Amino acid sequence: MKARISGLGHALGEQETHNHYFVDLGLETSDEWITERTGIKSRYIASEETSTSDLATKAAQHCIQNASIDKSNIDLIIVATSTPDYLSFPSTACLVQEKLKLGPIGAFDLSAACSGFSFALSTARSFIESNMYKNILVIGADCLSKITNFEDRGTCILFADGAGAALVTQTVEGETGGIIDSSLHSDGSKAELLMIPKGGSKYPLNTSITDEKSHYITMDGKGVFKSAISIVIPAIKSMLNKHNLNINDLSYLVCHQANKRILDKIANSIGLDKDKLVVNVTKYGNTSAATIPIALSELNEEKKLQKGDLILLAGFGAGFTWGLNLIEWS
Ligand code: UT7
Repeated sequence: MKARISGLGHALGEQETHNHYFVDLGLETSDEWITERTGIKSRYIASEETSTSDLATKAAQHCIQNASIDKSNIDLIIVATSTPDYLSFPSTACLVQEKLKLGPIGAFDLSAACSGFSFALSTARSFIESNMYKNILVIGADCLSKITNFEDRGTCILFADGAGAALVTQTVEGETGGIIDSSLHSDGSKAELLMIPKGGSKYPLNTSITDEKSHYITMDGKGVFKSAISIVIPAIKSMLNKHNLNINDLSYLVCHQANKRILDKIANSIGLDKDKLVVNVTKYGNTSAATIPIALSELNEEKKLQKGDLILLAGFGAGFTWGLNLIEWS
């Protein structure tokens, strides 16, 4: 028995925000700098009232409709997020369960930053292959704008809000395709490259922390850039080698959308055709755990996914974490 993706959906923050917004905020930046160094032209920011569970629920509803499944057949919800509605508990997955009016099925959050969807998809695959569940709703959802310091030009221009959902279903006898392989990795020695330094159990929130704004994202941009490239390229090559695949066998490479320059460097280094590299960071910015399922959902909506297509998903992000899933579309 294998696991396959049988439906996809996505949702974005309400407010389309262009690069000049940051200039208008009074930051020393420009549309030219942001475009040249990141490829980003716009992103969607959630309204004050919208939280991660709202976007996750919208994406899930879109996914359920796309999968044409009776929602009572869903066995489990996994939400990959770094921006839960509430610090620690209740989980965002429980809130999504209530908003979708599902029965008392299991629902839990998973934390692997921007690699979250890759880790959650692998987790769902294992539950399905072990025959524990048949239909799992896997959601990557983040409202990074809520944990971003809008006075820090090195981070605020990158991050945005969105959610993507995939229904992961057990294949039936004789059905081909599905999730072929997964590989998950972490390197905690690189934890400080991208973090929220304070406000957790090590440095519980107090007014001096909020005054110094250390409860927001801090990032060594260059360090993250270099790590992402040096880690993801060998991981992609190793996955292809393991399955005796050539880069030309891939129909699409869907990487975490952090910076167009990172995507271009990865594609150039592995010799991938430009039209097989999925890029939407230019319109949506970096929505963390949501980037990969949003990109998949868009490919699906545009009817670009054909039965038999080989698709490689590659997430990477804080931790440092990185995770890959090789899929034969069915
Ligand atoms: O999910 C994973 C999350 N994060 C990433 O993947 C991020 C990876 N890193 C990046 O995308 C890039 O490193 C950045 C876009 C964040 C920065 O680009 P860079 O080309 O690596 O710039 P830099 O950090 O080397 O900074 C070069 C200059 C600095 O000024 P000085 O020190 O040379 O005077 C920065 O202060 O650019 C400055 N700078 C900016 N200038 C205008 C940094 N941000 C901005 C900005 N506008 N928004």
